[in-house]
Amino acid sequence: MRNKIFKIDVHHILLAITVVITGFSNSSWAGRDNREVIVLDDDARNFLVREMQQNVSGLQQALTALSKDDMDAVATALRPLGFQGMTDVPPTLMSSVPDGFKKIGMPTHMAFDRIADAAEAGATAKEILSSIAMTMNKCIACHAAYRVESE
Ligand code: HEC
Repeated sequence: MRNKIFKIDVHHILLAITVVITGFSNSSWAGRDNREVIVLDDDARNFLVREMQQNVSGLQQALTALSKDDMDAVATALRPLGFQGMTDVPPTLMSSVPDGFKKIGMPTHMAFDRIADAAEAGATAKEILSSIAMTMNKCIACHAAYRVESE
């Protein structure tokens, strides 16, 4: 009798382990990609990739300028990440991205304009760094939510 109960327990434990392993293999652990797909034509995709590369190089230039307390150069580095970089957006990009994408993207441009303004208005390097770090949460949020496929 004791033995029988033990066997049932082992069976249940094995079942539980199987359920847990199956659960993990269905989670993002096993590489499932839950990001929403945005389908873009070549113009829109090229624009987006250029914009993203400009984000990285602008941030690199801003960090270099911050390390020298050169606030004018900080503003110059970050200005293209503001709405200035949006002047020649291909119309197909705007019509292809979902509202949620715009709701992260627009405030990101706005934030970089505000940071550039603050640098021009005499903010300290520490204040600017703090604003950049906060704004970069938007880079992370958008990358976690969306990916692009070519049309
Ligand atoms: C509103 C959404 C959004 C925001 C905000 C955003 N990105 Fe992106 N980014 C994307 C998407 C979508 C891709 C994928 C493009 C693809 O699949 O080709 C991407 C790709 C990239 C890439 C890869 C580009 C390449 O060469 O293929 C880099 C680097 C990048 N982002 C940097 C940044 C940085 C830095 C920020 C913040 C300053 C940022 N992004 C903010 C949506 C966003």
